[in-house]
Amino acid sequence: MILVTGAGGKTGQAVLEALTAKSEAVRALVRYQEQIPSAGRRGAEEVVVADLLNPVEMSVAMAGVRAVYLIAPNMHPEEARIGELAIAAAREAGVQRIVFHSVLHPQTREMPHHWQKLAVEERLFESGLGFTILQPAAYMQNVLPYWKEIVEDGVYRVPYGESAALSLVDLKDVAEVAAGVLTSSVHNGATYELAGPQALSPGQMAGLLSKQLKREVRFEAIPLITWAEEARAGGLGGYALDSLTKMFGYYNRHGLVGNSRVLEGLLRRPPRTFLRFVERVPSSQDSRFGN
Ligand SMILES: NC(=O)c1ccc[n+]([C@@H]2O[C@H](COP(=O)([O-])OP(=O)(O)OC[C@H]3O[C@@H](n4cnc5c(N)ncnc54)[C@H](OP(=O)(O)O)[C@@H]3O)[C@@H](O)[C@H]2O)c1
Repeated sequence: MILVTGAGGKTGQAVLEALTAKSEAVRALVRYQEQIPSAGRRGAEEVVVADLLNPVEMSVAMAGVRAVYLIAPNMHPEEARIGELAIAAAREAGVQRIVFHSVLHPQTREMPHHWQKLAVEERLFESGLGFTILQPAAYMQNVLPYWKEIVEDGVYRVPYGESAALSLVDLKDVAEVAAGVLTSSVHNGATYELAGPQALSPGQMAGLLSKQLKREVRFEAIPLITWAEEARAGGLGGYALDSLTKMFGYYNRHGLVGNSRVLEGLLRRPPRTFLRFVERVPSSQDSRFGN
């Protein structure tokens, strides 16, 4: 049995589907009862409702599990503690191996959600457990919340500029690698950077969107301060707002670029391109689309 945490979220759902395609028995860990049916539809044999911050619930979730795919919640102030609790619960339950869903360049101190993942990586090294670390770049799927504006207004508005090249990776490729790594023992002790095949600036992304959608899509940089004000007005606050602001500022100054050769080696084929991803997005889509 393989436990997938964060299974109600974007990454977890993609990993559930990839594992199901390999006919693996999977237990999905979700946060709320209402997320049970969706995990079942994605092929989870068992679904457990648990709070990643609750050690007792984590022990129950890990009972009888061979391997864990550890996905931490997005922009959570206690991400490092969640990792530590999961590692402790895994040790107690006799889990053989954790595959940790980290991030490209976790060494980046300026981005708190990267830095917290580095702390979890360190705890894994010391855990005595078998482990593999995956470090995905930003997903191509992150464009989906902007889709309505792209299609209806022909504008791709993000709070960073043309200097922000990102090695966007298709979440479908990441999930395929995750499933491969979880079902083979040869990856024990490895850390894999999973970067997509092109480092794209937002203007280049807008160009590719124009090409695929057969309509002009222009890129517009929103000032970061305007974005933060809008996000605050929309109810975002605290650690998430602070981390996202720092992330967009970092992207603006440095981009986030990796190398796709490791991903290509693991997939044994070229990684999916952004254009190929855009081809798959249905014309009317909801922002949860991830395939
Ligand atoms: N997006 C990217 O480009 C990217 C790239 C590399 C790495 N990552 C990393 O991937 C991870 C997952 O991201 P994602 O976009 O898939 O996130 P997501 O869609 O928000 O999924 C996270 C899931 O965790 C659940 N959750 C939150 N707090 C919880 C708790 N205390 N106990 C149990 N479950 C809890 C959430 O529940 P609710 O649904 O109720 O909120 C959600 O279902 C993050 O660590 C992120 O940093 C993301």
